[in-house]
Amino acid sequence: MGKTIVLPAQASLRAELEADGWVVVARSFGAQLNSDSIHEQRLHAMVARADGSVRELGDADVDAVLNLDATTIADYPGSVATQHTPLDRRTATPSVSRRAFGAFRPGGDLVSMTFVDIDGVEAETHFTVVHRAWRGRGLGIAVKAASVLTLAAEGVTRFRTGGSVDNVAILRANDALGYVRDEEWVTLAQNVR
Ligand SMILES: CC(C)(COP(=O)(O)OP(=O)(O)OC[C@H]1O[C@@H](n2cnc3c(N)ncnc32)[C@H](O)[C@@H]1OP(=O)(O)O)[C@@H](O)C(=O)NCCC(=O)NCCS
Repeated sequence: MGKTIVLPAQASLRAELEADGWVVVARSFGAQLNSDSIHEQRLHAMVARADGSVRELGDADVDAVLNLDATTIADYPGSVATQHTPLDRRTATPSVSRRAFGAFRPGGDLVSMTFVDIDGVEAETHFTVVHRAWRGRGLGIAVKAASVLTLAAEGVTRFRTGGSVDNVAILRANDALGYVRDEEWVTLAQNVR
């Protein structure tokens, strides 16, 4: 693929580029959940229902985080707007501004994780991933629910997330958590003739 550009779906530049032969190769979304709209009981139930135990991740989990990241690196759908950069030891280490939550199987294997960037009272999901063998069991929803509950209790008021519109599982997870989609983006690629 040649050059790409990511634009809000309604941007006037989009029509100009399309007239010039650029084509839409991917679509992505942004969504928001405000703390006063959180349905706490429902989110607690999502954590409790998960097929694994859920807790916040810390320094001692970094090897497990790197391992899960490496085995799922090719699994993110979409294009440049939703790509996931492989973690290294620094970016896999949770901190005050980058919190992480995970779900573990009874044997202790980390099978699901979400990383969230914090800026004051705002939180933005960096990524969420579940081991391929454990998808569709509520583990993606559970770690996202745990992050929202913990961070809201600490004073975060605005939660943002996003992803590819082709990613049905993450769209449904976000809907179930109460996120409202409020942004649509397109990735345009130059049609090299
Ligand atoms: C996206 C992802 C994290 C979801 O985690 P998961 O544990 O499989 O999803 P859950 O079991 O929590 O289910 C979430 C919702 O998606 C639905 N769902 C799960 N897998 C689905 C699938 N393959 N197709 C359609 N819907 C699906 C579930 O039914 C549920 O919706 P519901 O509450 O309305 O029933 C996981 O599929 C994954 O790791 N994908 C690869 C990485 C990725 O794309 N991450 C997101 C971008 S950062």
